[in-house]
Amino acid sequence: MKRTIFCAVFTLALAVPGAALAADAGSLYKSRCQPCHGPEAQGTAIAPGLADNQFVREASNEEIARTITEGRQGADRKYPQQFPTGMPPQKLSEDEVNQLVDYLKGLQGQ
Ligand code: HEC
Repeated sequence: MKRTIFCAVFTLALAVPGAALAADAGSLYKSRCQPCHGPEAQGTAIAPGLADNQFVREASNEEIARTITEGRQGADRKYPQQFPTGMPPQKLSEDEVNQLVDYLKGLQGQ
């Protein structure tokens, strides 16, 4: 067991330099999410706000990551009445998705 944990930590440590090279979450948000979700993540006429958002606050990191990579279409949509179209799946690396999940979690008022 100890050995497994050691290996996991070691693998994580190796992954970090790669993450540091990736664009930071703020600029990723700006280029990929802001057009629909708004500059302060407060929402727009075409997409819900992501700051102080109940789903982002309560969902697991995995659920949020899946929403980002798979988008929200058809029966998966939560707000079909409020917004004209769903969310298209986002093509991002796993690192980028994880950074965005942390970024969104950081936008939730405590
Ligand atoms: C083309 C517009 C568009 C883009 C680009 C977009 N989204 Fe969305 N997003 C939406 C719409 C519309 C919904 C709501 C869909 C529904 O459930 O009805 C949504 C829903 C979400 C939700 C779920 C919110 C909730 O209350 O359930 C999350 C989380 C999210 N988007 C994150 C992101 C992130 C992160 C990015 C950037 C990588 C992004 N979105 C890019 C349109 C977009």
